[in-house]
Amino acid sequence: MSFPRTLTVVLLLALLSSWNLPAAHAQPAQSSRAVSLAQTLDNREVFVDSLTSMMTLQEKLGQLAQYPSQWSDTGPSVPAGRQEDVRDGKVGSFLSLYTAEATREMQEIAVEESRLGIPLLFAYDVIHGYRTIFPIPLGEASSFNPDLARRTARAATREATAGGVHWTFAPMVDLSREPRWGRVMEGAGEDPYLNSVLARARVHGFQGPSVAADTTVMATAKHFVGYGAPQAGRDYHTVDVSDRTLHEIFLPPFHAALDAGARSVMPGFNEIAGVPMHAHDGLIDGLLRDDWNWNGVVVSDYTAVWELKEHGIADTDLSAGVQAIEAGVDVDMVSGIYGDTLDTAVRSGRLRTEEVNEAVQRVLRAKWDVGLFKNPYRYGNEEREDDVILSDEHRELARTAAHQSMVLLKNENNTLPLDDDVESLAVIGPLADDARSILGEWAASGRAEDAISVLQGLRNRSGVDVTYVPGLPDVKSTDTANVSDAVAAAQQADAALLVIGEEFNMSGEAASRTSIELPGAQQELAEAVVGTGTPTASVLLNGRPLALTGLDQTVPAILEAWYPGTEAGPAVADVLFGDVNPSGKLPMTFPRVTGQIPIFYNHKNTGRPPVEGQDYKSTYLDTPWTPLYPFGHGLSYTSFSYSAPRTSADSITVNDSVHVQVDVTNTGDRTGTEVVQLYVHDPVASITRPVQELRGTKRSELAPGETRTARFTLTMDDLAFHGPQMERIVEPGRFQVQVGTSSANVQTTTFRLTGSQTAVPLDVPVAP
Ligand code: NOJ
Repeated sequence: MSFPRTLTVVLLLALLSSWNLPAAHAQPAQSSRAVSLAQTLDNREVFVDSLTSMMTLQEKLGQLAQYPSQWSDTGPSVPAGRQEDVRDGKVGSFLSLYTAEATREMQEIAVEESRLGIPLLFAYDVIHGYRTIFPIPLGEASSFNPDLARRTARAATREATAGGVHWTFAPMVDLSREPRWGRVMEGAGEDPYLNSVLARARVHGFQGPSVAADTTVMATAKHFVGYGAPQAGRDYHTVDVSDRTLHEIFLPPFHAALDAGARSVMPGFNEIAGVPMHAHDGLIDGLLRDDWNWNGVVVSDYTAVWELKEHGIADTDLSAGVQAIEAGVDVDMVSGIYGDTLDTAVRSGRLRTEEVNEAVQRVLRAKWDVGLFKNPYRYGNEEREDDVILSDEHRELARTAAHQSMVLLKNENNTLPLDDDVESLAVIGPLADDARSILGEWAASGRAEDAISVLQGLRNRSGVDVTYVPGLPDVKSTDTANVSDAVAAAQQADAALLVIGEEFNMSGEAASRTSIELPGAQQELAEAVVGTGTPTASVLLNGRPLALTGLDQTVPAILEAWYPGTEAGPAVADVLFGDVNPSGKLPMTFPRVTGQIPIFYNHKNTGRPPVEGQDYKSTYLDTPWTPLYPFGHGLSYTSFSYSAPRTSADSITVNDSVHVQVDVTNTGDRTGTEVVQLYVHDPVASITRPVQELRGTKRSELAPGETRTARFTLTMDDLAFHGPQMERIVEPGRFQVQVGTSSANVQTTTFRLTGSQTAVPLDVPVAP
């Protein structure tokens, strides 16, 4: 291949040399040279080589520069000075520039007025919806339904691409055991298996079968890596995890996302053990590119190249820029350091031109792959915007996704669903008519006016007379002056519904809390309402696990709705009135009190395993060691019984697999969906192993009285761990298989693995 490729490049250079005008103040081209060049070639690598060789250093650095849009009432736009930069070839992509109109306008400048006419990439944080907003990712993770996650990502992508977006900064695959950290709302919770399954599904949803389609976007696995483990739960804080935890807990979701084809990675704002991720050559160039053979685009987080100075590993912008690009960070989001300093770094010999060329070529490949050199305007389209944005189909999907995301935490005496004879309902709590909070953080272009609040959803149901009393001025308030109004309303109603939790901006980026108990006087409000004797249930809207010991002791029924999105109101009403039977399970442990954090299900046994009430065991003096609601917990309006799990063999040899079956019966009188969970435990190994590790889930809808068999297969991959030398291995011995309805409610069987210790290498993702 190398001879024709080199020859083509030489010939093209000769052909195109008459176009080789100096970059600065060049005459605007009437049409794009880059696009014309692409049309004469049909080989990506030849094209990328040719175009790179035509570029000045400043134009190359331009491809690596990403800037944000500015926001006004008319939508996002680009300031005049930055438009000039685009003409000068000093910008490769924009952050948060969207809508067909705004993206076309900038694309025209890049393609028709810059010297080489290289099209821009438009990137946006399409995290859980574009304009139709789906449940927050932590909520959607509660569905344990990867196909749902794929479908919502797909729908969001249809909307975003109509608005001109090529690249999303999602999925966020930061596993986290730290509910004080506000960004848990963006992820899939605490478990590596669930995070990995959902990472794959979301990448497939965003990218579809091919990023070449004009209805797909490039996905970004972020924030690489360990960002979900900040010290003290404080956002951006230091991370210091062991290599083993990194490889077994935090890296698997990234591996899954890249294996699913994610075209881009964003490093985290954090450091790991003294090395800021934006300068982490060992993990970016070393692990991602060399070991995992992945060759997509690494985009910095917002100003994070500049932040290398704040971290204290660079004294100048130039040093920060050189360290970042040498570690493998291709695109500099917002800081402008690459554009401003790397030419000096190259000219002074501090940075090799090849480093710049490699980064530029990764960006150009991405532009080729999404089809921008075929037609730079193929994404944004006003007609498509009208057709797909907030379409009935997307709203319907948002409602389904919200149904599946809700978790029934508690339901004493079948308080829920509300009885048919409930004719009057007192809706209480400041969040009930908050149409913004139901969208959650990172709601892209979602708008409160498109969304249906919980109150509105309940009012839209016929046959129920709804009275609304906020009770408190807002969720953080301790002013209880109006609680008496709530009490009066509850006294006069057949049933009361508390809608409580956190406002949307109490989770998300830079939204850490030191106490994850219910904020403000909401607990007092709940006690006063329940004190009326009127049957009371509560709906929670929040973006993180909360410590709900007080509420649990007060209210007979608690429905965790997270932030359900645009269709929150109808979806919550469907579940409260029993049209939909809740099936969600917790993707993250709910502690009893904040002080138990970090508390997660896949912990180690310790040398003194916890036994409540015994001295010198791994327990607390003041609180039980167990969580309030464990990982995988979630009730239904019906009940399920489980047979004992069966394995296909008592003994298998290394490299074989074992099948596991369990019969699940709906023993109640309503149809319901159960999420059957399978965990494994390796009780004796050369390295201590967690007491349980999720390895499979099955969602199964069962009619009353119906029994179905859930089937799982365990392979060596499911039993492997990082051994004493950090190699991935299986060790022979006895394994436990635990199957049940939550991590804390399982039945156990065992099988034996025979043979000798064997390596189980990770599958390596295929380079894009
Ligand atoms: C900062 C966030 O950490 C990141 O997730 C996001 O993609 C960028 N800002 C761009 O909005």
